[in-house]
Amino acid sequence: MRTVLVTGSNGQLGNCIKDIESNNLNIIYTDYLELDISDLDKVKSFFKSHGPIDYCVNCAAYTAVDNAEKEPEKAYQINALGPKNLALTCELNSTVLIQVSTDFVFDGEKTEPYKETDLPNPLSVYGKTKWKGENFIQQICSKHIIIRTSWLYSPFGNNFVKTMLRLAETNMKLNIVNDQIGTPTNAYDLAGVILHIIGKDSYMQKNGESIPFYGTYHYSNEGICSWFDFAKKIFEINNIKIELQPIPTINYPTPAKRPHYSVLDKAKIKRTFGLEIKNWEETLKKY
Ligand SMILES: NC(=O)c1ccc[n+]([C@@H]2O[C@H](COP(=O)([O-])OP(=O)(O)OC[C@H]3O[C@@H](n4cnc5c(N)ncnc54)[C@H](OP(=O)(O)O)[C@@H]3O)[C@@H](O)[C@H]2O)c1
Repeated sequence: MRTVLVTGSNGQLGNCIKDIESNNLNIIYTDYLELDISDLDKVKSFFKSHGPIDYCVNCAAYTAVDNAEKEPEKAYQINALGPKNLALTCELNSTVLIQVSTDFVFDGEKTEPYKETDLPNPLSVYGKTKWKGENFIQQICSKHIIIRTSWLYSPFGNNFVKTMLRLAETNMKLNIVNDQIGTPTNAYDLAGVILHIIGKDSYMQKNGESIPFYGTYHYSNEGICSWFDFAKKIFEINNIKIELQPIPTINYPTPAKRPHYSVLDKAKIKRTFGLEIKNWEETLKKY
């Protein structure tokens, strides 16, 4: 049975993996207390005492995009040095490292979906540290899969869906930005894709097949919307009557700069792993 280490498993994505985990995997769930990925010695000794570990899925991250502007060192430790420590240890142990990254590595200047070959140019500390983490992994770990995703939501942790539902309890009217364009991603769908990839890789390794699929991929749900469209849909599905006012980003200043356009092109991940991806509106209804 394959052993999978999941780091940062108390977050949104980690909890979704827990909920849908497959029986034929031995999954070890850790968060900060059990395994602090920014401490290389701890990472190395964890692998030694729990090995052999076939896959490491890194869900650990510093995801507070605006706070990262005030705490760049902390964000770097977790988003850049953490993946570096995992990459060094995975390389030593021949472990496949699956890293989750973000659409915020892009500057949003494009007007059509970002491909994996487009050059990142992050605007924020969060985006810069995540991009640095990707770089370390690419340089150090030969068996890696980096999945960039966008606008993640789930029943766990902090996310836009939960914020909207909470704000609707005390507000009759909300102003929502309508000039940042992207795609929401149901964290359960992403969790399913990660388990699917592990299953496919395990099968191929067992049968000596060598289709090289290590590298970088983009994954979100299908479709395109603004935060305003996203909010509108959340309230429509939940039958909540509320007045929504579309506003430009300039009227909602935040410490971190965000890309105006960060739609991801999913052709590569669909082709490589034979995936069908749900539309964001359809999968939001399930939430
Ligand atoms: N959320 C989004 O909208 C979004 C969009 C695009 C990409 N992503 C990426 O998707 C991945 C999963 O995101 P998510 O929303 O599930 O994140 P999340 O809910 O913030 O979960 C991250 C988890 O990592 C833990 N953690 C923090 N520092 C750690 C450390 N040094 N060692 C071990 N664990 C640590 C956190 O613990 P504490 O809570 O105690 O700090 C938390 O449990 C991340 O890589 C993120 O960058 C997220």
